[in-house]
Amino acid sequence: MTELEKLRGECLGCRRCGLCETRTNVVFGVGPEDAKVMFIGEGPGENEDLQGEPFVGRAGKLLDDMLELIDLDRGKVYIANMVKCRPPRNRDPLPTEQEACAPWLKRQLEIINPGLIVCLGRIAAMRFIRSDFKISREHGVWFEKDGRRVMALYHPAALLRAPRTRPETFEDLKRIQKAAREL
Ligand code: URA
Repeated sequence: MTELEKLRGECLGCRRCGLCETRTNVVFGVGPEDAKVMFIGEGPGENEDLQGEPFVGRAGKLLDDMLELIDLDRGKVYIANMVKCRPPRNRDPLPTEQEACAPWLKRQLEIINPGLIVCLGRIAAMRFIRSDFKISREHGVWFEKDGRRVMALYHPAALLRAPRTRPETFEDLKRIQKAAREL
């Protein structure tokens, strides 16, 4: 059993916060253990909770299309969320829930050790880049964090709601493609 599989096994039984009471499945994350690029979303929605996989609903379909544009797919990148269990009615995860869940993602990052991290949306960017991160101004910009390059994209669900931001996201994706090729 690999380190990541061992961690997954532990995470599936997690009861560190109240979300364990209402979840159907823990959504640990998917992708190869040696992925060079890691995408981090906010938290599972209804479809993800039911299937135990991140980004499998409408936003997930768009994420798959975005990956395909830059010659990536779920076989090549790791996809995870900041919190592993669905917040009821898709509310934002509470700071206490984020804190309780953070050690799981920290270990995932240590094990996978990706060269690039892509935050999907403002909430992940506020945690991984800066607490006052402004997604409309700072999406597509590379930041340096703990020796890794980190960028934020508009969340795919936001892109579904506001398609006018898609051309900008296409430019951001091309930057990710370029950086991934340089790794
Ligand atoms: N939105 C997220 O942030 N994560 C998912 O897994 C699905 C939707």
